[in-house]
Amino acid sequence: MSFLRMDELDLTGKRLMIREDFNVPLDAGRVTSDARIRAALPTIQMALDGGAAVILLSHLGRPVEGQYSDKFSLAPVAEHLSGLLNQPVRLQKDWLGGVDIQPGEVVLCENVRFNVGEKANDEALARSMAVLCDIFVMDAFGTAHRAQASTEGVIRFAPSACAGPLLSRELFELENALTEPRRPMLAIVGGSKVSTKLTVLESLMSKVDELIVGGGIANTFIAASGYDVGKSLYEPDLIQEAQRLIRIAHEKGGEIPIPKDVVVATSFSKDARAYVRSVDEVKADEMILDIGPLTAIDYAVTIQGAGTVIWNGPVGVFEFENFAAGTRAIADAIEISNAFSIAGGGDTLAAIDQFNIADGVSYISTGGGAFLEYVEGKKLPAVAALEARYRK
Ligand code: 3PG
Ligand code: MG
Repeated sequence: MSFLRMDELDLTGKRLMIREDFNVPLDAGRVTSDARIRAALPTIQMALDGGAAVILLSHLGRPVEGQYSDKFSLAPVAEHLSGLLNQPVRLQKDWLGGVDIQPGEVVLCENVRFNVGEKANDEALARSMAVLCDIFVMDAFGTAHRAQASTEGVIRFAPSACAGPLLSRELFELENALTEPRRPMLAIVGGSKVSTKLTVLESLMSKVDELIVGGGIANTFIAASGYDVGKSLYEPDLIQEAQRLIRIAHEKGGEIPIPKDVVVATSFSKDARAYVRSVDEVKADEMILDIGPLTAIDYAVTIQGAGTVIWNGPVGVFEFENFAAGTRAIADAIEISNAFSIAGGGDTLAAIDQFNIADGVSYISTGGGAFLEYVEGKKLPAVAALEARYRK
């Protein structure tokens, strides 16, 4: 991977436009998890210390293009960032016509996805961003898998374009963990649907030594192994795919383990009564909401034996205390393990926070979709654009 990096450039007096991923969860106008904002701070500080005028870009959520809406405004982010940086961060609503800024100042441009053509990577839009800066810095690893005007397009047209320290570090850590992993290498992939993670499961099978599936994905694998999953969330259409993946694992001399025991309830709610069942005893009116205690021990043992652990997705409904034990056991096992552990994805980061194990994870990625696409071996379009510029 070769591209220009921000720390190679003289930033003095330059207008630096940094693409961030400030797509953070909000509740009643406040930022509820600022991990992505904190991850961006060293880059912003480096730019300010280097004497640049700092123009920040980000998206938030998925608003309708061409329509401003308060719900998708970056105002809460500007306020939060200002507190963390300990200096004013001006939010500019209409910015494509020009940004008035001096070195040492920080301006956050309103949600890039309010602009028509952002998602379609419209060239005219990308060019109108490009002329606002001297140097464009791509630092939004979490959005590097999107070929959009403010991520990929602008890189092609800016006077100069480079990778920021956060993007560089994410790529370095992931490459390090995945190209020469300490073996055995284990991936834990949870989440609700096989369909959204089918390609990732398939490509992981060729890279890892062990694969544990969790959540709704595991339910489909349980059904594919011939067990009744009752009212559980699962995808009947993907049973054949699951069986095919199980076969591939066997041919490789491994397996995708099926939980021995599960935790079930008859309703999906925080106070639903939880019952532990052997996997072959789930009743027609029950749904599987977590792995059971024996399975949790098995998985913890597998984690202890691993050299590298990639974690994306919880194994149960950890937001509800009665169904949190499985994900907690995974988190605790990762925390105490000496494996190189790498985690990414919104739910996974929430679980890491909830179980307070961040210090025990070797690397926590700010990416969700981008993290998975990287793990799959896909080229991230924004990174490809930086590389292409570097070759020219
Ligand atoms: C994310 O949260 O995964 C990124 O910010 C990308 O957001 P998107 O899926 O709406 O493109
Ligand atoms: Mg550890």
